[in-house]
Amino acid sequence: MNSTLAADLLPWFDRHGRHDLPWQAATPDGRRDAYRVWLSEVMLQQTQVATVIPYFQRFTEALRTLRELGAADEDRVLALWSGLGYYRRARFLHRAAQLCVERHGGELPRDFDALAALPGIGRSTAGAILAQAHGLRLPILDGNVKRVLTRYHGIEGHPGSSVVEKQLWERADAHTPYERVADYTQAIMDLGATVCVRSRPLCLACPLADACVAHREGRTAQLPTPKPG
Ligand code: ADE
Repeated sequence: MNSTLAADLLPWFDRHGRHDLPWQAATPDGRRDAYRVWLSEVMLQQTQVATVIPYFQRFTEALRTLRELGAADEDRVLALWSGLGYYRRARFLHRAAQLCVERHGGELPRDFDALAALPGIGRSTAGAILAQAHGLRLPILDGNVKRVLTRYHGIEGHPGSSVVEKQLWERADAHTPYERVADYTQAIMDLGATVCVRSRPLCLACPLADACVAHREGRTAQLPTPKPG
């Protein structure tokens, strides 16, 4: 494996990670439905897994495919989103589905640039979708992953600053394995959400603790560096 981080993380994921999330279910051909992965990633952008699950189920029962979403009235989409907050996400989702019908034959594009050009899909979300739905080796860098990597490498500076963010993308890319990329993607997000939490991280339960700079130097409470001012 190209990274010890991934080699340490995957066995932890096999034992402790989340494997039965509704958007992880395989389609009959053994893949994951890109529409469902996309919807889950957009819902999870600002909302925790446990909250998302019932919304995800309701939404996908009502609008089962990308084409059904594109053809739905916006009011219906917003009603299905109601309670999740950040309604801009639902409007972008609806608009992106319409664009996929117009431009991409009713499918979510597999091409990274075409995918990241859709409303509401940034670089990290595009990577997360393609890694999970199609097994493409692409890095992700959401808030949870930024926290894991700043601590693991002891990176100072606010992770939202462009200098630090650039370093973090380079690290994120270097750690992304060539195999099991869908599992790795879920694993690093799960680690950030459940173990490498912002306050009082559970380092005793962390598979990366031995190699983690912040843990070794007692700096987990100082990293990631808060936004200045
Ligand atoms: N946040 C964004 N995507 C996520 C995922 N797949 N699992 C957990 N948290 C996430």
